[in-house]
Amino acid sequence: MKIKDLEFKKFITADRIEKKVAALAKHIDKDYKDKSPVFLPVLNGSFMFAADLLKEVTIPCRVSFVKISSYAGTASTGQLKSLIGHDESLFGTDIIIVEDIVDTGLTLQKVSDELKGLGAKSVEAVSLLRKQPAREKNIDIKYIGFELEQEFVVGYGLDYDGLGRNLKDIYSRVG
Ligand code: PRP
Repeated sequence: MKIKDLEFKKFITADRIEKKVAALAKHIDKDYKDKSPVFLPVLNGSFMFAADLLKEVTIPCRVSFVKISSYAGTASTGQLKSLIGHDESLFGTDIIIVEDIVDTGLTLQKVSDELKGLGAKSVEAVSLLRKQPAREKNIDIKYIGFELEQEFVVGYGLDYDGLGRNLKDIYSRVG
């Protein structure tokens, strides 16, 4: 399959993803049995994973999508990136950050730190994919779907230059 200039091959099928998502939801259901967590999917990439995961989760929960802005204020303030979209009601809540992929771990670290600063009771993360750098750095992710090495992947929410997010399967770059 070709997207723009790059060639991709099927890497993780929709069927495997579906099974993994169900298993992750079951695990979360068990761990949060007597709790009512707030799921915070980080846009854009996590939209499809979050939708499928939340259909399988059965505990009472809330969902609020968040985004990392490119700049907080103006670029000239030098304050790069901040979390937007959340509301004030996160104080004292059990939060589960939902990511499609964790690579360097910088995004997750940033989101997690901000949420702790807002007074969340607990902050954990679920990511469908984890790449090698996050593994090497021991980035704290409680629930992980699949481990990757250095593959460049698209599909199921993940994009190449904005394209490919709508694909049901996950594809990896060839060559
Ligand atoms: C991707 C992904 C994570 C982040 C992981 O988002 O959804 O949020 O990168 O990378 P890191 O661990 O190296 O920080 P991206 O910034 O590509 O935006 P998108 O979700 O809109 O595609």
